[in-house]
Parts: sequence; C-alpha cells; structure tokens
Amino acid sequence: MSLRITSYEEYQDKYAQSVNSPEEFWSEIAETFTWKQPWTKTLDWNFSEPKIKWFEGGKLNITENLLDRHLATRGDQVAFYWEANDIDGEGKSITYSELHAEVCKLSNAMRELGLAKGDRVCIYMPMILESVVAILACARIGAIHSIVFAGFSSNALADRINDAQAKLVITSDGLNRGNKQVDIKSMVDESLLSCPSIEHSIVVDCIHSNPEMKSDRDLWYHDIMEGQSTTCEAEIMDAEDMLFILYTSGSTGKPKGVVHTCGGYMVYTSYSFQNVFQYEEGDVFWCTADIGWITGHSYIVYGPLLAGATSVIFEGIPTYPNPGRFWQICEKYKVNQFYTAPTAIRSLMGCGLDVVNCYDLSSLKVIGSVGEPINQEAWHWYHDNIGKKNCPVVDTWWQTETGGIMLSGLGNLSPMHPTHAGYPLPGIQPVLLDAEGNEIIENNQEGYLCIKFPWPSILRTTYGDHDRCKNVYFSNYDNYYFTGDGAKRDENGMYRIIGRVDDVINVSGHRFGTAEIEDAINTNQYAIESAVVGYPHDIKGQGIYAYVVIDSNKIEDSATIISSLIESVSTGIGKIAKPDKIQLVTGLPKTRSGKIMRRILRKIAEGEKSNFGDTSTLLDPSLVEDIVEKSI
Ligand code: WTA
Repeated sequence: MSLRITSYEEYQDKYAQSVNSPEEFWSEIAETFTWKQPWTKTLDWNFSEPKIKWFEGGKLNITENLLDRHLATRGDQVAFYWEANDIDGEGKSITYSELHAEVCKLSNAMRELGLAKGDRVCIYMPMILESVVAILACARIGAIHSIVFAGFSSNALADRINDAQAKLVITSDGLNRGNKQVDIKSMVDESLLSCPSIEHSIVVDCIHSNPEMKSDRDLWYHDIMEGQSTTCEAEIMDAEDMLFILYTSGSTGKPKGVVHTCGGYMVYTSYSFQNVFQYEEGDVFWCTADIGWITGHSYIVYGPLLAGATSVIFEGIPTYPNPGRFWQICEKYKVNQFYTAPTAIRSLMGCGLDVVNCYDLSSLKVIGSVGEPINQEAWHWYHDNIGKKNCPVVDTWWQTETGGIMLSGLGNLSPMHPTHAGYPLPGIQPVLLDAEGNEIIENNQEGYLCIKFPWPSILRTTYGDHDRCKNVYFSNYDNYYFTGDGAKRDENGMYRIIGRVDDVINVSGHRFGTAEIEDAINTNQYAIESAVVGYPHDIKGQGIYAYVVIDSNKIEDSATIISSLIESVSTGIGKIAKPDKIQLVTGLPKTRSGKIMRRILRKIAEGEKSNFGDTSTLLDPSLVEDIVEKSI
C-alpha cells in the first residue's frame, strides 16, 4: 500500500495530525505492514533514561515485509540493477523472487553454522548484490548486522568487531574501485588476529584473487550456498529487538555503535523513502551511497525494498573511467530519482558540462543531496545541469542516529530554497535551543538543533553502553534529543543546517571525531601530542588539519615525519581519514588549566592571522604567533 502524500496541503494536514496525535498517526502507517502479532502499546518513552519503545509487543520479521510480502504482486519485478565498476563490465539484475531465494539460502547456511537470533555479524563488503543478501539474511534469522565500510583499516574493523563481539564476518576476497583492485580479505585476516569472538568468515569470490583460506575459519560463500533450500522460516522478532548496529564517530572516544530496532526503523524508512523521493510504481531509484553508511542502509536496502521499489546499485566510483559515469548510468537505467552527496557534485562540477550533456537525463524527476550542507554553487549546478531546472532538489538532513530523513522537501510537493533542507517530515518535531536550553522562537537566529518528540527510527541505545547514549544525545538539554548540529529557521519555517557544533568533522560527508584522529596520530613514534580541527575545503566540504607536537629527541626530516603520521592515520582508521594538512609544532596553545584552545587552532586553519578573541587565559601566547607564522 502506498504511503505517499500527494500534495503540499496533504503534507500540512498530516504534519498537524502527527504532532497532535502521534500514536494514531504512526499506528495507521504501521498497520500497512505485515505483523505476526499486533502491538499492544504504540509508544512508551522518556528522554531522561532514555527509553523509547515503539509498537511494543508487536511481532514481525522485516524481511517478510520487504521480500515475502511482495512476492505475489512483484516477484518478477527487478529489485536491483547492479552496475559493475567497469563501464563495459557485465551488469546483473535480481528480481524480488530471486532475492528472496538467495536470502533464504544464506539464512539457512548461517543457521547451519550455528548463528541464531541476537548474534552479531560483521559485514565488510564491496557494493555487490551479495552484500544486500548478507544484510537481509542476518535480518531473516534475527542476527544483528554491523556493517563496516570497506575503506576502514584492519584496526578500525577489529575495534568494531570486538565492541560488538561478533561471531561471524562476511566479506569478499577484494573489491574493484576505479582502476584499482583492493585486497580486502587480507585486511580482515589481519583484524581477526585480535578478534577472538569470530568463529567463521564467509568470503564472496568477487575479484577471483585466489586468497589464502584459513581452513577452520574461512568459508567460500558459493560453497555454503550450494544445495541450500530457497525457503527459510523467518525468525519472529519483537518490534524492539535490535535490527542492526552501525558505528559512527562522535566528539569523544572510539566510535559508538548506534542501535536501531526492527519495527520503528521499518516503518520510518519506508515512509520517508516514499515521501521524500515521491517514488511511484515503476520508477527506478538510485542512491549512490555505500552500504557501509547509514544512507546505504536506509535508502539502498531497507527503504526501497520495503516500498517494493526497483533500484540501481553501483560498484564503482563517479570518476571512472571518466567523470560522466554517474550520468551515463542515469541514462542507461532511466533513473527517476537520483540521490547523492554534495562532495560528489562539487567534484563533478569541475569536470565541465560535456560529460553531462552527452547523456539523456530526461528520466530524472527528483534529485537529492545528503550528508553535509550543500553550498549555493553546487545546488545551482545540480539543479540546472542535472535536473535541467525541472527536478526538485531534496536536500535531506538526517543522521546515523535518526535512522531516516528528518528535514527535507517532499519531491516536487514542497517549496524549496537553495541551501535549506526545508521542512520536517511528518512526525518530526525540531526545535532550536539557545545555550541555556531555551527554545528560540524568533526566526533567522542560529541555535542548537534538537528534537523534542520521538519518531519511530530514533536510536534506542549505543551498543553495550547505554550511559553513553544518554550522555551524548539526551543530557545536553533535558528532554530533548541533541543532534550536534547548529541550524537556523527562516520566516517560512524552513530549516538551514549550519554544521556541527561539536568536535565532529564532516569530510566528504563522512563523519570523524577529532579525538579519534588525534588518537591515531598519537600512536606514531614521532608524535607527543596533537590537535585536529576541520577547515573549509572546496570539494570535501571540510578538510582535516592536524597540528602535531613532535618529539625533539627524534631527529628526522619533516617529510619523513609527515608521511609516517599519515601512515598512522591510515592504519588506525583508514585512508579516508588522512589529514589534508599536517603542521609540525613545538607546542599547542593551552589554557593554564591545560585545555587546548581549539577555537584558535580552528581560526588558524581557516587562514586567520590575528583576531583570536580573548587569549588572556593562554599559558604561552607566543606559541600562537609561531603557529600562525608557519601555518599551511
Ligand atoms: C550532516 C548522514 C547539512 C550533519 C545521513 C549531520 C547534513 C551529519 C545533511 C550526520 C544535510 C547530513 N545538510 N548537513 N542535508 N545531511 N548532514 O551520521 O552534520 O553520517 O549531523 O548521517 O551529517 O552524518 P551521518
């Protein structure tokens, strides 16, 4: 059943209804899904513990809602077109009934290996169809998946496996990325040296690299799939049972495992997908994210499949073999809704219009943006040249923790305004708070973006550490969920996201905590101490600037030290977190109480030479002059 709102007036009605009687509003939507047992209580919540339960007592399996439920009406419909990295590579497609069969086979194989409801499974895979099968097989048997983006290093992977105490890892021998092949099996092998909880690893033969297989641990995907039945009874899950863990960075400490649960996540991803993208029967949707990020979870896998959509999955990168690749794929599959990140738009903008205009993009109806603020220039380029001034740009603001899109236009229904994410989706009650926690009522004032009422796909906890969830999201302001973003609301009620107000840097739409990068740098033999800040970057949105205090006893030329520091970050986190600029310094500006004055370092990284505000609490003001002088 379609959950699609079809006019702006209907949106306004639904929004009012969702605020006035949220339980009735969400119940009506939830009833359109297949439940094995209805819920007894629609919502039970407080933001102080926090405790948030949606559809309590309800029993379901999400895979029955995204596969079995569709078989009678759309078994032969394509669920995914898979486009290979190579432009002349052999593409594949999979129908709903084929996907159902594959998922059942892997579910059976996983059960044979002894996996059961509640076990954690780590997925470290390329953008291939087997990744979707792996995700859904976990969900089918009630195992909790934790997908780790395959660009993370073996150390980062090991940390995540250990935090979740995963029993199984599903991976591939390698992956194709542009003109490179990356061996990921050896990364996993390295991680598993320090992951005692892992019993098996299932390996997809993706690049045929004939890796070494550890006989008591590694299993080929194609071997364990052989002879398995194409049906598999789905585990009966409570609405509030965990569906997955996804690690994400915050201001402090190691990345935390954001937990989403079965019922609420199902309802919200499906609802938001259909409304934001105005997906209609027969359309082809394409989200270019990687499944390792929340965008891939919610809008490649769960949202589209729940809605019975046909989507594209692309293995490769936007610039290979040339920067027209995205547009060529849009033409090839006659994509109707296209969803990508500002960083991709900004990098493709610089490549000229010849590689755009040679493709027929007339199928496009809605084009979307996610992950970071989209600047004016990129917005207009996207709107004019990709959307041909005919397609609404949906600038979707949301987070790993929110599970689904929170602020956005709904296709062509809503008014839009460049660089403004727009209005809250039904059910979402945003507010802007001042530093004291008072709601800002006036327009055009900047405030801390918070949400004052739960929606079905809000995070429930951080895995293994509920206090952390409480402290990070629910303690800054009593009774509000704190997003970590600053925002403004204009006179029309539209929200504009300014950016993070905490120590999180958003590089090409990827989140990193400054502390996490500092930790990786500090493991380096030359480093004594470091401070990492973000600075504006033309393509990536933000770049990473690291100030590193070097051990003066270790004499080495600075090029050697810098490459060694970069290596430490690549090893500790992954190449995606490499600093763009590293400045070797003799000390960091600190207050008398020993706190690093990041505000000053941020200004220096932005190119500021003076005007650092109040520096009277600095222990050694001369350090600042020295850092400014040698800044990059
Ligand atoms: C930022 C990605 C401006 C924001 C879905 C948020 C955005 C963080 C937008 C979450 C947008 C995401 N406009 N900023 N449309 N979308 N962000 O968890 O700072 O990877 O807090 O989720 O990205 O990043 P995450």
